[in-house]
Amino acid sequence: MNKPIEISASILAADFANLANEIKRSQQAGVDRFHIDCMDGHFVPNLTIGPVVIQAIRPHTQLPIEAHLMIEHPWDYIESYAKAGADIIQIQVECYGQRRRACREYGQWPKEVDAIDMPALRGDLRKIRELGKKAFVVINPGTPLFKEVLPECDGVLMMSVNPGHAGQPFISSVLAKVRQLKENFAGDIAVDGGINAQTAPEAVKAGAHVLIAASYLYSASNLKEIVTSLKSLPVC
Ligand code: DX5
Ligand code: ZN
Repeated sequence: MNKPIEISASILAADFANLANEIKRSQQAGVDRFHIDCMDGHFVPNLTIGPVVIQAIRPHTQLPIEAHLMIEHPWDYIESYAKAGADIIQIQVECYGQRRRACREYGQWPKEVDAIDMPALRGDLRKIRELGKKAFVVINPGTPLFKEVLPECDGVLMMSVNPGHAGQPFISSVLAKVRQLKENFAGDIAVDGGINAQTAPEAVKAGAHVLIAASYLYSASNLKEIVTSLKSLPVC
């Protein structure tokens, strides 16, 4: 049975001076989740939001809040994000790679990650679940799909841009990985980065049902129209 399409609104392109209002109007437009891009200036060359902002927006919505951790040492902050009120915690597999340090060089993305510390990654996914939250791995465009981690995951987030900024073009080579994932995984399949009217149908056709979008949603003159059109895409 195919899952219905869900729209996760990435507030990275919303009006940060009016977050409560942005959340309200996104909900009224029919979004299903909120996606919070947490960047530390090390794992990615940009600094954004931390647990205090999640804590501040928590009372403004009952929809699930996803914390996408683009931070170098996610294991140090899992509990803080859980306590702040995130329902879903998304950790980047690259943080568990031996060449993690090289990932700091933004210009080197996409970079293959040849050895992942699987016991550590699995342990952190279990920790997220023990805290009563949903555990997702995030996979960058240049990183292979590590199938062995799937039993520990409630969802997988496929990055379709190199992480760090909103408004980048969709990297369509990730669609092959989405198709591969669809064949092997029954949990949530999310795609993040460059989602718009042209790319969303491709992501859905490949097997994604959670579409994460920032610029396309928050630059729209009619948010509801955009959300409705994305949610009515034919699911395969
Ligand atoms: C990129 C972030 C994405 C980003 C998406 O590092 O993880 O969630 O906000 O932005 P758009 O939809 O503008 O590509
Ligand atoms: Zn994100």
